[in-house]
Amino acid sequence: MLVAPSLLSADFGNLEREMQWFNESQADYLHLDVMDGVFVPNISFGYPVLKHVARLCKKPLDVHLMIEEPQKMIPQVVALGAHFMNVHYEALTHHHRVIQQIREAGLHPAITICPSTPVMFLQDIIQYVDMVLLMSVNPGFGGQQFIPHTLDKVVQLRRLIQETDSKALIEIDGGVNLQTGQKLAEAGADVLVAGSFVFGADDPAGNVQALKALS
Ligand code: DX5
Ligand code: ZN
Repeated sequence: MLVAPSLLSADFGNLEREMQWFNESQADYLHLDVMDGVFVPNISFGYPVLKHVARLCKKPLDVHLMIEEPQKMIPQVVALGAHFMNVHYEALTHHHRVIQQIREAGLHPAITICPSTPVMFLQDIIQYVDMVLLMSVNPGFGGQQFIPHTLDKVVQLRRLIQETDSKALIEIDGGVNLQTGQKLAEAGADVLVAGSFVFGADDPAGNVQALKALS
């Protein structure tokens, strides 16, 4: 299993220390949640903070933009040297254009859907993205409970990926722990995001290792 710990649950007073254990851990990506207080009812951090995190982080960045008009942040996400740029389906009108702009900027485009957005809405964009992020909570906050219907959506998405010959990875975000992670692994998830279960734990590197071992 690929694992992407979410910085949202980290100790922001000690980012240097957090990045130290993180860099030495088995984590595959660092998941960064950008919020604007408009698309979601919360504000997290923006570029001034992210650029310092990017400097401290030795692993590829997975930037999850919970903002309106995410295309405006392409230059900044490029400047971070990020790997994935995750944009919400619900925040866009011209999905194909924005995905193309992200790829042309040298980033790996990913599209995210909220719990109430059906998987079939991705049918005509799935061929163009490198990853689909299924939200398993309503975006905006860490520490929420996993929505069980996500498991059905993973199965539906795996089928859509096979039918369309897409190479997209399936990523899940929200309420991931060892129990929900095991079910997600069995349903066909490729990447698990975990905030409170990793950065909020006494042994964060141990919890990364436990999630990595799921299959
Ligand atoms: C929520 C964010 C998540 C969040 C997950 O809107 O997208 O990445 O950090 O937190 P947990 O794992 O605690 O549910
Ligand atoms: Zn996220």
